[in-house]
Amino acid sequence: MSKSETLILRDSEIRALLPHSEFNGIVEEVFRDWGLGQVVMPAKIHLDMSRSGSDAWNNAMPAFLVSQHAAGIKWVGGYPLNPGNGMPYIRGLLVLTSPENGDTLAVLDGTYISDWRTGASAAVAVKYLARAGARRIVMVGAGSQGRTASVCIRQAAPGAELTVVDISQARLDSFQQMLAGEFGIKVQTTTDTAAAVSQADVVVLLTTANKPFIRKEWLQPGVLMLGMGSYQQAEDDALLSFDKIVVDSAGQAAHRGEIKNLVEQNKIPENSLAVDLGSIVAAKAVGRSSDQEKVLCVLVGLGAHDVSAAAKAFHKARSGGIGLAVQLNS
Ligand SMILES: NC(=O)c1ccc[n+]([C@@H]2O[C@H](COP(=O)([O-])OP(=O)(O)OC[C@H]3O[C@@H](n4cnc5c(N)ncnc54)[C@H](O)[C@@H]3O)[C@@H](O)[C@H]2O)c1
Repeated sequence: MSKSETLILRDSEIRALLPHSEFNGIVEEVFRDWGLGQVVMPAKIHLDMSRSGSDAWNNAMPAFLVSQHAAGIKWVGGYPLNPGNGMPYIRGLLVLTSPENGDTLAVLDGTYISDWRTGASAAVAVKYLARAGARRIVMVGAGSQGRTASVCIRQAAPGAELTVVDISQARLDSFQQMLAGEFGIKVQTTTDTAAAVSQADVVVLLTTANKPFIRKEWLQPGVLMLGMGSYQQAEDDALLSFDKIVVDSAGQAAHRGEIKNLVEQNKIPENSLAVDLGSIVAAKAVGRSSDQEKVLCVLVGLGAHDVSAAAKAFHKARSGGIGLAVQLNS
């Protein structure tokens, strides 16, 4: 058997190879490829790990990007006890394989890529679905994903005013300091979800809440709401009040995240989830059709974004001689 090399890439190397400012472009390009039918990507497989002692889970997210000539899988999970133990809630690993012969090209820490591609997905959704002139962005959830989404949205919409909501004042304080210190971004903070959401042009839901708390009467005409958490965060009648629902992947949105329960109850029929963000980015479908329309965009997360970013990091690493090369099949 011929010997092939696998590149092991550590978190610190990936951060240096792939600055966060590159993620909006990477993610938009993948959405376009997905809309153009250039991505093979089954819905993620969910592994319930609640018998581990906490409400933990892991997802397997494979993708083959035909035009980018990249294939691989993200293995990513949520561990509720982690934030209290100084570790991130979301942790992931990425594996890239050769589309030609299955060589294991690279194994990468996946957490940095996962966090930034999530933030960039929010930014792309805002770019394509917010109403003209939308300025007031409300980020609900001052966690790792709220951080990347805030930075990516500000990068795409420099005039945006960001208000961050959380149930924890301590989280809000450290979030505000970190965003100002690391990224030079000023944000308002509040624990008053009702007041913040009632003023919002765009609401981004990125909490670990597993009970709905966003109410219908807070949502203004013309609002764009991004449902990006792993569980339902808005009450049923709030979700049913939207004029249009856009998804990142219909197969995934029906079985995970914000609208899973309503699809299972057939209050949102699965076959009504026809408009996907990739098709809108690829100009094959229309997004928002008026400034008054209330648009819900459910972004459960595409493995193709991770695989594309990982492939870019891998190519840069290989040409720069970065990473640890091992022969797994020696
Ligand atoms: N859509 C995607 O692609 C994608 C990718 C990764 C993670 N996620 C999901 O995003 C969510 C956030 O993940 P994270 O890594 O930022 O977690 P995190 O633990 O870093 O942050 C979550 C924050 O939510 C806050 N929170 C909990 N309940 C709240 C409520 N009712 N109101 C306001 N704030 C509340 C917590 O205090 C915490 O600050 C999770 O559900 C995660 O599974 C989605």
